[in-house]
Amino acid sequence: MAPRWPSFNNTAVADGPLLIIPQLPWVLPPNQLDKVQGYVKFEGIKFRYPTRPEVPILQGIDLEIKPGQTVALVGPSGCGKSTTVSLLQRFYDPLEGRVLVDGHDIKEVHT
Ligand SMILES: Nc1ncnc2c1ncn2[C@@H]1O[C@H](COP(=O)(O)OP(=O)(O)OP(=O)(O)O)[C@@H](O)[C@H]1O
Ligand SMILES: [Mg+2]
Repeated sequence: MAPRWPSFNNTAVADGPLLIIPQLPWVLPPNQLDKVQGYVKFEGIKFRYPTRPEVPILQGIDLEIKPGQTVALVGPSGCGKSTTVSLLQRFYDPLEGRVLVDGHDIKEVHT
């Protein structure tokens, strides 16, 4: 079967997950930070969904994204790409570790 995106054919694919974050203006309300630079850091993130606590999903994610940088999370289906993004969106909080935007733990900034 022909690849859906032929231009990816000769591209080196990362071993781990790959994430695309266009912009992050929604993470921190403007009244809590004057200006969001968009520096993102995942520090030792561990996560399990509350409905399936016996299944470890993220087992220690470290990730650093500089402002303006485009990053893609790549990995097999179910490896946790969407889960990683949902933590940045704060749909869930990590069980261990911190998600930082501009150096602020979003757990403390985003109410
Ligand atoms: N709301 C949820 N409750 C419980 N388990 C979930 C939930 N959402 C995802 N999972 C499980 O978490 C794991 C990671 O799922 P996730 O959706 O983050 O993977 P993904 O890398 O985005 O996969 P895909 O490439 O198919 O989009 C999978 O085992 C999935 O079944
Ligand atoms: Mg997904």
